[in-house]
Amino acid sequence: MIVVTAAGGQTGTAVVRALRARDLPVRAVVGRRGPRPQLESLGAEVVVAELTQPAAWADVLAGAGALYLIWPNFDPDEAEGATALFGEARRAGVGRVVYHSVLRPQARAMPHHGAKDRAEQALDTAGVAWRVLQPCAYAQNLDEEVRRAADTGVLRSRWGLRTAQSLVDLADVAEAAAVLLTEDGLDGGTFEVAGPEPLTAPRLAELVGAAAGRDVVADDVVPAGEVPVSYPARCARLMLDHYRSHGFTGSPRVATALLGRLPRTYADHLADLLGAG
Ligand SMILES: NC(=O)c1ccc[n+]([C@@H]2O[C@H](COP(=O)([O-])OP(=O)(O)OC[C@H]3O[C@@H](n4cnc5c(N)ncnc54)[C@H](OP(=O)(O)O)[C@@H]3O)[C@@H](O)[C@H]2O)c1
Repeated sequence: MIVVTAAGGQTGTAVVRALRARDLPVRAVVGRRGPRPQLESLGAEVVVAELTQPAAWADVLAGAGALYLIWPNFDPDEAEGATALFGEARRAGVGRVVYHSVLRPQARAMPHHGAKDRAEQALDTAGVAWRVLQPCAYAQNLDEEVRRAADTGVLRSRWGLRTAQSLVDLADVAEAAAVLLTEDGLDGGTFEVAGPEPLTAPRLAELVGAAAGRDVVADDVVPAGEVPVSYPARCARLMLDHYRSHGFTGSPRVATALLGRLPRTYADHLADLLGAG
């Protein structure tokens, strides 16, 4: 049995899908009660548990061979909460913990990266067998803007026009997660999952234009005002500011080794996203 947290979110559902495609039993943990048709149709056992109440996790983790720990995005409780759950996994005798981190967690100008860095540090002394997955930004992050750009001919970039991101397809991230959850010989390893090419906004506009059959240009939309105070908004803004100054790129070599093939290109993703329409 593999336990996946934050399973109702985009990442969790993608990981559940990749595991169920391998016919593995999955306990999908969600935060709130209510119907979960997507997870149930994948054949997962759906359970409700609050991430910030680790004592309640003994039952959730009972009999689990592995835990895939995803923490919700831009959440101030991540470092302490993830650390507490690593302890619960050890107490429950979970054989393997895989932590869903981020590419370059040490980039502490982004608080949510710093939180993941501290959680990774805690793994070292947690007393469990662990692996870490460090994904770059997902290709899917831009889907809404891309659909809009296909209609309007303008792709708005809030990270400027000069720097690039190595966008990675979430399906590849989930495949890599399934490898870390199931294959031997990877304990204590930290694995980056980046897409195959660094993509600037003008290059993305070119690709969207080719897929949509029209001209698309990139437009620089500079975030206005001071950096917000609330944690999620602050993280989002500091992330965009960091991407604008430094980009967010990585090497596809590790993902290629994990997947046994090159990661999907952004053009592959666009063919799925815009192809049907
Ligand atoms: N987007 C990217 O490009 C990217 C790249 C690298 C890493 N990441 C990381 O991936 C992780 C997952 O992101 P995501 O967008 O998939 O997740 P998300 O949408 O932020 O959250 C996923 C789920 O977490 C559950 N949740 C929220 N608070 C909870 C709580 N207190 N207790 C239990 N469950 C709770 C919610 O479940 P319910 O549905 O039950 O409310 C939600 O559906 C984040 O840590 C993010 O930093 C993202």
